[in-house]
Amino acid sequence: MQDDADIDFRPMQLIDVDAVCAIEQRAQVAPWTRAQFIDSLAAGHAAWLLYRGTVLSGYALCSFVLDEAELLDIVIDPACQRQGLAGRFMAFLAREARQAGAQKMFLEVRVSNRAAQALYARSGFSPVGLRRDYYPCAAGREHALLMMRLL
Ligand SMILES: CC(C)(COP(=O)(O)OP(=O)(O)OC[C@H]1O[C@@H](n2cnc3c(N)ncnc32)[C@H](O)[C@@H]1OP(=O)(O)O)[C@@H](O)C(=O)NCCC(=O)NCCS
Repeated sequence: MQDDADIDFRPMQLIDVDAVCAIEQRAQVAPWTRAQFIDSLAAGHAAWLLYRGTVLSGYALCSFVLDEAELLDIVIDPACQRQGLAGRFMAFLAREARQAGAQKMFLEVRVSNRAAQALYARSGFSPVGLRRDYYPCAAGREHALLMMRLL
């Protein structure tokens, strides 16, 4: 487990997108493109960087509609995984979403992504639905599990 004093959350800006894309390429099965991050920032989504000391170690993006937040992406650099960073990030995002007036947070996750599902279950999320054939994958398409938590 990390010392909270060493962890800092900062808003993501356009200037950060190259560094974020480098982590995204290392971490994700189906990485977001540079254009997707730029579009997300332009759309006004809440986008956060997680720094441990001076090292960019992860990022997350959320959108808000009325009293609902949606977690669009959360990634921890593979070099920094399994050290409790995503758990801390999820707690931070829940606080931010609550402060922004959200009462529920939703997310979608690949049914094959057991690590993320375990993280979300630990962070208070429960499965509330299935979107069939939602994501492209090597074998064709795979389902998305829809999860929700009250804030
Ligand atoms: C999912 C992800 C964000 C977890 O980040 P992390 O910093 O390693 O997670 P934490 O160390 O905070 O772990 C918190 C809990 O999540 C679960 N978890 C995390 N990684 C896991 C893994 N590889 N296998 C099983 N459970 C895992 C565990 O329950 C863990 O608690 P524990 O360590 O006490 O058992 C990270 O693996 C990642 O970036 N994956 C690639 C991107 C991705 O899939 N994002 C989600 C998109 S929907």
